[in-house]
Amino acid sequence: MPTHSPWVDDPEGYGRVSRILHWGMALLLVWQLLSAVVRAVAEHSPLDAFFWSTHVGTGFTIAWLAILRGAWGLANLRRRPATEGPALLRKAAALGHIALYGLLILVPALGILRAFGKGRDLTIYGHQVFAPVTPGPNAALGSFAGEVHEFLGWTLFALIAGHIAMALWHGFVRRDGTFGSMTRGPAARHLAARV
Ligand code: HEM
Repeated sequence: MPTHSPWVDDPEGYGRVSRILHWGMALLLVWQLLSAVVRAVAEHSPLDAFFWSTHVGTGFTIAWLAILRGAWGLANLRRRPATEGPALLRKAAALGHIALYGLLILVPALGILRAFGKGRDLTIYGHQVFAPVTPGPNAALGSFAGEVHEFLGWTLFALIAGHIAMALWHGFVRRDGTFGSMTRGPAARHLAARV
């Protein structure tokens, strides 16, 4: 049986706060992927105008949710489920998760740095953070940040694809309860243990 409140993490599975943050961010990242793919393949189309209008706000939301989730993860570190699988894969999983959190914060920060350097408007949730200025304070820095933002943005989506593949491997090949600990929470490990 879970040893804590259903809201906090438990060695038997993730609590409600972690699961809400995880799946909420997953939805936002699917939306962000759509905005980036439509921009890459159909820039200036009406579909691009629709998705792009949400890119900055969604990206900013992803960044602060990642900070909140990282803080919640650290606060729950001692009672989180242990990583399952061979030692090398456990190490790869730890590094992969650090890279995911890092990119979830770094990619949006670079998008904002690009806007600042190039002197572009930055409006978040309808509030103007910087007005456009010509020339921008540092166009070279802005261009560099933009290039790195795009490269690391695609890298983040590739890492997420790897994360999903590994979660499915745990869920459907190893059947070790890892997948269920993020879907059904603590109850899932008890079900896995009974199989
Ligand atoms: C997790 C959050 C984010 C992800 C994953 C992400 C991802 C991406 C990707 C993959 C591209 C390249 C699209 C293409 O190839 O055409 C891109 C472009 C861009 N992103 Fe983001 N982004 C995020 C957040 C932000 C934020 C917060 C800003 C804030 C200013 C921003 C501003 C931009 C800009 C200005 C471009 C270039 C658009 C263009 O001129 O084509 N992004 N982003």
